[in-house]
Amino acid sequence: VLDIRKLYGQADVFTYDPGFTSTASCESTITYIDGDKGELLYRGYPIEQLADQSHFLEVCYLLLYGELPDAKQMVDFETRVTRHTMVHEQMHNFFRGFRRDAHPMATMVGVVGAMSAFYHDSTDIGDAWQREVASIRLIAKLPTIAAMAFKYSVGQPFVYPKNSLSYAGNFLNMCFSVPAEEYVVNPVLEKAMDRIMMLHADHEQNASTSTVRLAGSSGANPFACIAAGIACLWGPAHGGANQACLEMLKEIGTVDRIPEYVAKAKDKNSGFRLMGFGHRVYKNFDPRAKVMKESADEVLELLGVHDNPLLQVAKELERIALEDEYFISKKLYPNVDFYSGIILEAMGFPTSMFTPIFALSRTVGWIAQWKEMISDPQMKIGRPRQLYIGAPRRDYPELGTR
Ligand code: ACO
Repeated sequence: VLDIRKLYGQADVFTYDPGFTSTASCESTITYIDGDKGELLYRGYPIEQLADQSHFLEVCYLLLYGELPDAKQMVDFETRVTRHTMVHEQMHNFFRGFRRDAHPMATMVGVVGAMSAFYHDSTDIGDAWQREVASIRLIAKLPTIAAMAFKYSVGQPFVYPKNSLSYAGNFLNMCFSVPAEEYVVNPVLEKAMDRIMMLHADHEQNASTSTVRLAGSSGANPFACIAAGIACLWGPAHGGANQACLEMLKEIGTVDRIPEYVAKAKDKNSGFRLMGFGHRVYKNFDPRAKVMKESADEVLELLGVHDNPLLQVAKELERIALEDEYFISKKLYPNVDFYSGIILEAMGFPTSMFTPIFALSRTVGWIAQWKEMISDPQMKIGRPRQLYIGAPRRDYPELGTR
């Protein structure tokens, strides 16, 4: 705690905590993390149990409403979500305004932000019905938007949602089916995708969630807030790590080059980090990574791609880093993005789609956090202070005297 009155004569006392490593910005009942134990709970339920026994839409219900649904509540919720999976036809034209080579995250930031224009009948945050409709619209349409961003980038026609499929199955179908031939969703890949979605659904006050809360604290509408969250997620230190990780594996290329990269990561002056390793909160194994590793093994087994050089590099890098004193002493374990990247690569997604998939999965967490914030009677606009270290007051000099 700094008494800056002594420093700068301002009447304020506050904490200076770069990176918010020890500052809570809110109270929350949604997600609990114990970084030392490697524990993650959604509304009290361990992530491992949910990943094994639940499914993504049930987890959405849990995060949004606080309890697991009964059978009728589940059916009602699924019906509400599937009714909203299509996007406004005019959005197709909006997509066509982007360059084909645009990054799908750039397209998504724009399209999701534009939802406030396409769905302005659900932007009044003071109206409970509009808040609910906006939430359902976001959860239902994000996979459609992410799949459209993908199809647009590869020059294929958009695929409309198929509501007879599961949430994850529908997403895979919208990404991989083409008019010329029938695409049947493989149940192992569907389950793996559903797990990726569940494991990424929420993670308390990470950078993108804090961004959504901060944007929402001004009263901005939920579409604008989620677009802000997507923009924040894009960074390589956050959701962009899954793409950065796969690109790093490609750059390493062959198993014999791993030691060179490990040495570079240990050299502080290199500015290089092993992407997909380390976490701000988990100083033990990331519990999501454990579950994701199982899924990665299942998917690789199914697809028979063990001899893929990229995946061989990933496995060997994991083995070497887990035995290396530098990584052990700094508690740097593979995080969820390390394994999700491997699965998505094996499924056939280009690396540019990894972060959009994270974004569509995290949307429910962002919405749950946004709803919790705006219904909090203590809610105030988020307005951090700063520690000013610039020039003291001085007089403006005439141009000729500078
Ligand atoms: N490779 C090599 N060294 C690392 C790595 C890494 N991936 N991550 C941290 N370190 C080192 C740092 O150099 C630092 O060393 P020092 O103590 O000698 O100064 C120490 O470990 C602590 O690192 P910090 O940056 O202080 O840890 P912080 O908690 O701020 O960072 C972060 C966490 C951003 C995730 C970091 O580990 C990182 O950059 N990892 C790579 C990117 C990544 O995978 N991000 C995904 C996060 S998970 C998610 O968003 C879902």
